[in-house]
This record gives sequence, C-alpha cells and structure tokens, in this order.
Amino acid sequence: MPVATAVMKAVRLHDYGGPEVLRYEDVPVPSIKDDEVLVRVYAAAVNPVDWKVRKGLAKSWLHHQLPLIPGWDVAGIIEKTGANAMGLQAGGQVFGLLDLRQSGAYAQFVAAKASYFAKKPATLDFINTAAVPLATLTAWQALFDTAGLIKGQTVLIHAAAGGVGHMAVQLAKWKGAKVIGTASARNLEFLRGLGADEVIDYNSRRFDEIVKEADVVLDTLGGDVQERSWKVLKKDGILVSIVGAPSKEQAAQHDVRATSILVHPDSEQLTRLAGMIDDGRIKPHVDAVMPLSEAGRAHELSQAGHVRGKIVLVVP
Ligand SMILES: NC(=O)c1ccc[n+]([C@@H]2O[C@H](COP(=O)([O-])OP(=O)(O)OC[C@H]3O[C@@H](n4cnc5c(N)ncnc54)[C@H](OP(=O)(O)O)[C@@H]3O)[C@@H](O)[C@H]2O)c1
Repeated sequence: MPVATAVMKAVRLHDYGGPEVLRYEDVPVPSIKDDEVLVRVYAAAVNPVDWKVRKGLAKSWLHHQLPLIPGWDVAGIIEKTGANAMGLQAGGQVFGLLDLRQSGAYAQFVAAKASYFAKKPATLDFINTAAVPLATLTAWQALFDTAGLIKGQTVLIHAAAGGVGHMAVQLAKWKGAKVIGTASARNLEFLRGLGADEVIDYNSRRFDEIVKEADVVLDTLGGDVQERSWKVLKKDGILVSIVGAPSKEQAAQHDVRATSILVHPDSEQLTRLAGMIDDGRIKPHVDAVMPLSEAGRAHELSQAGHVRGKIVLVVP
C-alpha cells in the first residue's frame, strides 16, 4: 500500500475494557519526526502489557491518550526515514520494541524513533522476528543488566514456558548458568528442549521445597510465587521482578537483594540478539498466529495465562 493514500488499517482502543473495545478501523498513516522512521509493519507480537493497557490497568503509569493503537513489538520494512534517522534506510528489514508510553504496532504503519530498531535476524521470517523484542530484551535486561548472572550460577525462572521465560531459559543457558524452570506438566518437555537443567511442575511440586541456594530468581508472577521465592535464594542472591516492586523488608529479612525492572528499547541489544539468533544460539517459539483483525481473540488467549512462547498478529 503506498503511503500516499495516507490511510491505514489499525486496531485501536477507544475506551478501556474487554476485548470488544478493540476496533479494527481506518486511521491516518502517522507522520514522522526527524529522528524517526516510518515502518511498514508485517507482524506485531502480543504481550500481556497489551491487554493490561486495554483494561486500563496501566493508566497511572503510562498516561496514554485514547484512542490508542496498542502493541509494542514490531517486525517490518522501513518505508521512510527522518532527516536525522541515522543508520537506517528505506527498504531495510527491521525489528524493534517501541516506547510503551507511545502509540503501538497493531497497524500497517508505525512511526517511531530510529534508535528503537535493529536489523532483523536474517534467519527468521517476520512472524518469528516480531516474537523477539519485548520478551527477549526483558529477559536480557533482568538476567544480565540487573542480576548480573554469570557462568556457573543457578537461576530459577518462573513461568519458564511463557514469552519472557522461554527466552530467559535460553539466554541463561547460553551464559553457562544452571537453569531451573517452572511450568505445568504439558510444558516440561518444552523446557528441557530449551536447555533447562531442572523442571518443576508447579501443580504437583512446590518449588520452594526443591530449589536451594539459587543466585537469581526471575519473578514473572509475583504474589504467592514471589513470597515463596525468598527462601530459595542464597545469602546475597537477587530476586528480579518484572511484575512490580518486591518488598525491600522481606528481602532484608532473608538476607537477599530484590529489585524490579521495566523493559526499555535498546537497539544494540537487539543487534546482539539478532546475531545470536542467526548463530542458532536462541530461538523464539510462536504458539499462535492470527490476523490483526482478530486482536481481541489474541488478547483473550494471552489473558488466559497459558501461552507457550508468543502470540503474533499478522498485519495485512
Ligand atoms: N516489567 C517488564 O518490563 C515486563 C516485561 C515483560 C513482561 N512483563 C510481565 O511479566 C509477566 C510475564 O510475561 P510473559 O510475556 O512471559 O507472560 P505469558 O507469556 O503470558 O506467560 C504465560 C506462561 O505463564 C505460565 N504460568 C502461568 N501460571 C504459572 C505458574 N503458577 N507457575 C509457573 N508458570 C506459570 C504458563 O505456563 P503453563 O501453561 O505451563 O501454566 C505460560 O507458559 C506478565 O505479567 C507481563 O505483563 C513485564
């Protein structure tokens, strides 16, 4: 579709609520600023933050204006570059994590800072590429930038079959760590295939009665799982939560450290990840592929909480 038509298909939410507030409609193609690129979106992944935003759960910290195009994972081709958009050219195949505070990628085009994008992995198609940025950057930033995970350490990864978890397992193995992952029975073989050293079916065994002296816990669930995670850490070990700030008091009582992170766009990290994908070291798993017009159904599936890997929307 030439940009000259200036209208594109997109999914927007006009109000907060259930999946029915997502409307597939015609909207103007966005214009770009000097430091931005216009990307023709081929695929956009679905993340839990998408339906949290839709339900209005992120209002207090993301401050979106409605109507809003959600979805912050994108794979596509550069259509146009701003005057100061360095390093990228029209026609380039890219992937990126957008700024969660801005308009997203459930659309035929997205305008965003050039610095959010990197060259797409050569060995993946657009669908698999879209599955990478948000989940894998989260895993990288939690495990390496924040926890400082190194070779020989032990990491417990909760929800290891999920979007973040399945990439975290592979990254931690690549680093040379011992990886313990939790999942339901149907996902245990999947986790072993990703390289997990030990797997725990959370329905039949309590991880806090099995895991001892872990250096790092990646907390993707919070609540009771977080509460029970303190005692599996060794002295000075660290719990990194991606679902909210853990209690500093609880951490101190257990002689461990605790922190939370919010993933941020990082083109250099994406370039590194693309190289690791092309070298066959890590690989995203796509559980379901749906057309953009069925974003509501994709949200319902994500919200049910049992996606293996990622859901990806294909953009017409
Ligand atoms: N702070 C940040 O920057 C950041 C970034 C990314 C994500 N997040 C948040 O982190 C959370 C996880 O994200 P995600 O994309 O990985 O989610 P996801 O893909 O939707 O997670 C689904 C997975 O959770 C597993 N699961 C459900 N209940 C479980 C339990 N009690 N124990 C172990 N595994 C369980 C499921 O495995 P089974 O089917 O086997 O049960 C499924 O594979 C979400 O709340 C998301 O919003 C935060």
